[in-house]
Amino acid sequence: MRTPAIVLNFKTYPEILGKRGWDLAKRFAAVADDTGASIVLCPPATDLAHVAKLVHIPVFGQHVDAAEAGQATGWIPPEALLEAGAAGTLINHSERKVAWEEMAKSIPRCRELGLEVVACADDVAEAETLAKLSPEYIAIEPPELIGGDVSVTTAKPEIIAIAVERIHAANPRVVVLCGAGVRSRKDVAKALDLGTSGVLLSSGIVKAKDPEKALRDLVKGLR
Ligand code: G3P
Repeated sequence: MRTPAIVLNFKTYPEILGKRGWDLAKRFAAVADDTGASIVLCPPATDLAHVAKLVHIPVFGQHVDAAEAGQATGWIPPEALLEAGAAGTLINHSERKVAWEEMAKSIPRCRELGLEVVACADDVAEAETLAKLSPEYIAIEPPELIGGDVSVTTAKPEIIAIAVERIHAANPRVVVLCGAGVRSRKDVAKALDLGTSGVLLSSGIVKAKDPEKALRDLVKGLR
């Protein structure tokens, strides 16, 4: 992904399931066109292939398994994401944690296939450990602030600043994002001021009265 970036996790909110999510994805892609902003969409696995066909901006999975493609009913191997049109994936989101051993297998496999990985971390210690697996990106998201009205950039800016420092000390190639409660251009601008290269967010856009309008405001924080 081009940074600084906005990574929009659709999660499985009713507002984005099926056709509603397809229509929103097209409107979000139009925001990227009109503003030149780098926007990445993470629809649910059930809608990923359709969304990837509809838009020309990067589409990422919300999760990936280390399972080999083959006799693996219900798993999501990296090859399946690639074939569905994904350019990358989230992994270890606080709502879908993954064992370290699993990530130690799936992250290199994604890299071999050219799938970019955003590894999510609940805290600085986890972020520092994840940096050793060399995901392209690490997103620091304190779980207690996720889905809330107060942005991590306001509630816990020190955690982001320390995470940026520690992650880069552990692996200077990893690009840092932050998330949890991000809602406005001010939150995005603050995230960049704290040394990150973008944000990972969800409810501030997906649950907004006018999601497209909310995204148009948010991307102004990228400048
Ligand atoms: O993956 C993004 C997410 O966990 C943050 O959610 O709703 O606080 O923006 P939200």
